[in-house]
Amino acid sequence: MEVKKVGVIGGGVMGNGIVHVFAQTGYEVTMVEISSELCDKAKAKIAKNLGRMVKKERITQEDADTTLSKITMTTELSDLAGCQLVIEAVTEKREVKYLIYEELNKVLADDAILATNTSTISITELAGKYKKPENFIGMHFMNPVPIMKLIEIIRGMLTSDEVYNTIDEISKKLGKIPAVANDFPGFVSNRLLMPMLNEAVYCLMEGVATKENIDIVMKLGMNHPMGPLELADLIGLDTCLNIMEVLFEGLGDSKYRPCPLLRKMVFAGLLGRKSGKGFYDYTK
Ligand code: NAI
Repeated sequence: MEVKKVGVIGGGVMGNGIVHVFAQTGYEVTMVEISSELCDKAKAKIAKNLGRMVKKERITQEDADTTLSKITMTTELSDLAGCQLVIEAVTEKREVKYLIYEELNKVLADDAILATNTSTISITELAGKYKKPENFIGMHFMNPVPIMKLIEIIRGMLTSDEVYNTIDEISKKLGKIPAVANDFPGFVSNRLLMPMLNEAVYCLMEGVATKENIDIVMKLGMNHPMGPLELADLIGLDTCLNIMEVLFEGLGDSKYRPCPLLRKMVFAGLLGRKSGKGFYDYTK
């Protein structure tokens, strides 16, 4: 099946980047958010990121304008009716995703592909809520989407070869490098990354070192481009907590216990860059 029209649900940290790369590759993209304010916010973010690319002479102003002209924003899931591929990038909560899939079961054509950007929730489990589990797949983009090369593709137990091949091909067309994983909690990326970030929060909570020194050790000692606490702030501390909870529950091993300080920061609304404050202050 040829994919021409793409829908993206959620315009947060990940959604706006996903819209950006699809539109820049030439797809017609419809983005769904819960309010027109959030639609405007996502579009402004995409325009700002495109502007930055123009300044760096990676694209022309014309490319940026063409990309923006490919994007439609809406608050209605029913506007995704003509899409051959929909990527769901909403909050990492089962109940939020389930409600959306229920709607999509009515709206999308039977051969439409539904891909989720979930960081950890089982693809096979989510696929069970979609009318065609064989047309359901994990398409896990990395943050920030326009810059990061990897797409981790996760096959659910029932994902068809045809759907996998289509998503593999589209990932390459987007200029990304796909790596396929099987459906286990956290897949490869978050099974390895998130326990490290969580352990960095334990180090901070236990007073092993200051936040700056924890980050410096990993940047200068291990050659990581960002420290673990800076990276947790970039990802969003609520998303980090959700991922740890899925790993803890899904793998049943105490080594995945979310750090109490991480939980406390999420309760306090200190979510990282997106809320202005996390381990670091982004308001200044
Ligand atoms: P976010 O909290 O920044 O954005 C989620 C967006 O979904 C919000 O703007 C919210 O208004 C919207 N939303 C909620 N319910 C909706 C609905 N019914 N219809 C339309 N929009 C709705 O979250 P983020 O970080 O963008 O995460 C989205 C997904 O991507 C999650 O599944 C997460 O696990 C995954 N992910 C996140 C990464 C990260 O670095 N933040 C990396 C890779 C995957």
